[in-house]
Amino acid sequence: MALPRSVRIVEVGARDGLQNEKAIVPTAAKIELIDRLSATGLQSIEATSFVSPKWIPQLADAAEVMAGIERRPGVRYPVLVPNLQGYERARAAGAEDIAVFTAASEVFNQRNTNAGIDESLQRFAPVLERARADGVRVRGYVSTVLGCPYQGEVPLADVVRVARALHAMGCEEVSLGDTIGVGTPGKARDMLRAVAGEVPMERLAVHFHDTYGQALSNILACLEEGVAVVDSSVAGTGGCPYARGASGNVASEDVVYMLHGLGIETGIDLDRLVATGRWLAALLGRESGSKVGRALAGA
Ligand code: HMG
Ligand code: MG
Repeated sequence: MALPRSVRIVEVGARDGLQNEKAIVPTAAKIELIDRLSATGLQSIEATSFVSPKWIPQLADAAEVMAGIERRPGVRYPVLVPNLQGYERARAAGAEDIAVFTAASEVFNQRNTNAGIDESLQRFAPVLERARADGVRVRGYVSTVLGCPYQGEVPLADVVRVARALHAMGCEEVSLGDTIGVGTPGKARDMLRAVAGEVPMERLAVHFHDTYGQALSNILACLEEGVAVVDSSVAGTGGCPYARGASGNVASEDVVYMLHGLGIETGIDLDRLVATGRWLAALLGRESGSKVGRALAGA
């Protein structure tokens, strides 16, 4: 199948990246990160998370972050919302795009949200109802689509069932997450194909963590299937505190480099993105998780 002509990157570093940092990044630095990202041409920047601050203290300043960022026209700033309480906090902070999240495996979802899969879907029903009335766009995440840290293998039918449920509830986009980065390209392709049998491909996104170094290959396999929305994280930060062994997301710089090399448009200025990744890595006091970022820095 032909590759898409253009791909939209959903930058998740400010949320998926910073939620997993041991140190709490100062609010002003989070705001600067998001403003730097929006200056690269990114159209979707997941900004923060209105989950319980007891569970994720790293993002307890979500309202301050939303109040501080520059809202660039044409850029969307979705935020994670686990329940109605989170929705109300997000709306009070001016969020116009939200993301709800559940998983394809029961135990992971229990550890991550203190609820079973069906219970979490029930929690989302009133959130989606309110979002529809308020004209708020909703993305839905399915975690553990290629493996679970507790259960191991995850049946494709479970992934399809949850993705279909999120779509049917009114999620405009469903992001399929390899939370612990165990997938390989053939399995990623089969998973996407199975989901796309029930949810239109143009409503799907892929979200790969890079624990086993398979993320770019998995993305390429999914692009060949027709997906045109890819989640990634600048400098390759990321991980889920409730997923043992989950390392960073695939680095945005590496994804953009690959896409541009394939002649696929992203609207993103790679040099600016690399500079932002270097700035973030310095802020976190470590090397960037982006190979492209490191190579261009050494050039
Ligand atoms: P719970 O403890 O069962 O919640 O947590 P509860 O409803 O029983 O409430 C307990 C307390 O939390 C109460 O406060 C509530 O007010 C408060 P208390 O009376 O004890 O003082 N509370 C809240 N406070 C602020 N905002 C809220 C909120 N909700 C309740 N929204 C809950 C259930 C879902 C809230 C919790 O489990 C939680 O916040 N989990 C989030 C975990 C998380 O953020 N994980 C990482 C994101 S998912 C991810 O990374 C995967 C992804 O990247 C895709 C992939 O890679 O696969 C998306
Ligand atoms: Mg993730």
